[in-house]
Amino acid sequence: MQIHFLSEKNSILNHFLAEIRDVNIHNDAMRFRRNMERIGEIMAYELSKELEYKNVEIQTPLGIKKTTQISDSIVLCSILRAGLTTHLGFLNYFDKAENGFISAYRYHPNNNANFEIKVEYQAIADITDKCLLLVDPMLATGQSIVAVYKRLMERGTPKSIHIAITIAAPEGIAYLQKHLPENCHLWIAALDNKLNEHSYIVPGIGDAGDLAYGIK
Ligand code: URA
Repeated sequence: MQIHFLSEKNSILNHFLAEIRDVNIHNDAMRFRRNMERIGEIMAYELSKELEYKNVEIQTPLGIKKTTQISDSIVLCSILRAGLTTHLGFLNYFDKAENGFISAYRYHPNNNANFEIKVEYQAIADITDKCLLLVDPMLATGQSIVAVYKRLMERGTPKSIHIAITIAAPEGIAYLQKHLPENCHLWIAALDNKLNEHSYIVPGIGDAGDLAYGIK
């Protein structure tokens, strides 16, 4: 797996990351959603450098410009529900993408302390020979991503696979490295310290879905 860490040095990306973490503004769900979207936009720009391009000649009012445009057919798929905010940011840039949605949630079989992942709802195009861009803001244990990845592979074999994560824990990265193929690209905006006993990322942000959609 090829891992791309985006810089956490002084940048507007880091500024937005600081805001989504800040408990003092977590009561402003609209600001949280917008910041997640803006982070998605920045990640989309960085990721665009690894896509495939074709040469084009563009007619301007004053002449012809030889340049390039994206040739990949992109399928943008996010994991419900936290992925929706980031999804919008990616879609602002990859506006011709086909869009897919898939749900994955943790559940505790027989009230067991350990959780498993249930993948349920899915609406996703055929991904054969396309560029699959899977968006999930929080990479904690990595189990949801792997469960979703397996389900997505039933929709064809993509030409390339990019997974975009806003905040990742080292445990999740190690799990993906073990369970996903070599040719996957993993994009990470921020790398945090660890998981806590409930498999939440520390320091992280808390529950991304609740913060975006107002459950307190
Ligand atoms: N999902 C979240 O929303 N937050 C975490 O810290 C881990 C998983």
